Amino acid sequence: MASPRVCVTGGGGYVASWLVKLLLSRGYAVHATVRDPSDPKNAHLRRMEGASESLLLFKADMLDRDALAAAVSGCEGVFHVASPVPADKVLDPEAKVLSPAVKGTLNVLQACSANNVRKVIVVSSTAAVHFNPSWPQGIIQDESCWSDKFFCTKSEEWYIAAKTIAEETALEYGEKNGLLVVTVCPCVVLGPLLQPLINTTSEVFVYIIKGGPRAMKNITWNIVDVRDVADALLLVYEKVESSGRYICAPNRISTYDIANLFRKFYPNYNYVKCSDEDHESEMPPVTSEKLKSLGWKPRKLEETLLDSIEHYEKAGFLQDVEGCPCRLPYLFHFASN
Ligand SMILES: NC(=O)c1ccc[n+]([C@@H]2O[C@H](COP(=O)([O-])OP(=O)(O)OC[C@H]3O[C@@H](n4cnc5c(N)ncnc54)[C@H](OP(=O)(O)O)[C@@H]3O)[C@@H](O)[C@H]2O)c1
Repeated sequence: MASPRVCVTGGGGYVASWLVKLLLSRGYAVHATVRDPSDPKNAHLRRMEGASESLLLFKADMLDRDALAAAVSGCEGVFHVASPVPADKVLDPEAKVLSPAVKGTLNVLQACSANNVRKVIVVSSTAAVHFNPSWPQGIIQDESCWSDKFFCTKSEEWYIAAKTIAEETALEYGEKNGLLVVTVCPCVVLGPLLQPLINTTSEVFVYIIKGGPRAMKNITWNIVDVRDVADALLLVYEKVESSGRYICAPNRISTYDIANLFRKFYPNYNYVKCSDEDHESEMPPVTSEKLKSLGWKPRKLEETLLDSIEHYEKAGFLQDVEGCPCRLPYLFHFASN
């Protein structure tokens, strides 16, 4: 019997690379879209076990509808992972974030409808959950909580606005057009990288380990392992009963406790200055019970954190590079003093 064939958009990115690896290991034939198949930053995909027989790379920008149609053609399922995760302050929000996220998602869904794709899993974010000023204080957020897109746009939180509008658009499109669309909302993703270049969220933890230079607030982070995100995406794809959105955010820990845990095992780094004063409310607690009840079993946080620092060390991300000062990505400006 032929292997089931699926497409992963943005295949060379942090989350998508782990998903491609998982799909290949489970016997899927994979179409991965990348913007430039010849770019060395995507070379790790071709080296994955099973890639020579079962992985095809397609050149596609999310705004290129013809390229997307070619990539999803022949696939029974699509994992839409690609979306900008900007590290720097966004100067042209429409072109750099909103359009690739929202129009890009619509383009992928339309390509899926036109090519008889059976099920689409869209990667959203807890960014599309948290920022809701009317959610009652002290109540744990679940899938019924949506970030307020008007509030996010007004506050110029472009990534958050883009993820919220893209996820809402995807679910609405699915309902109106009879396409099975399920969304997954991971919190901050950590764990080892498969690709050679560091992604935006991992940069935050390199900043914590290398010691700033600026002090950070003691906010509480919701953290999920990148390997558990890949598992969650495949689980919601394979379970016939999955529907709607799934929060994927199993663990909570403060900046202060992260630095202390790292310091215990790796005492030779500077670590960021951070008071033990609590800023817990800046990242509200969420529940992943809906995903767990589908059978998702995330690993322990300590394993994720220690595997991350071990990988950063091996990959050279913790070395000082002249002319490249350590930076806290602008997306996480709220975490700094
Ligand atoms: N990392 C996290 O903590 C986290 C948490 C929650 C949700 N997410 C979501 O997870 C997904 C993957 O994020 P990630 O952390 O893996 O980041 P990443 O490594 O930066 O991956 C993003 C991917 O999107 C692609 N992309 C961006 N704009 C594109 C466009 N216009 N056309 C085609 N491809 C485009 C990038 O391609 P290039 O390499 O060509 O730029 C890259 O492959 C995103 O949807 C993100 O919002 C991430």
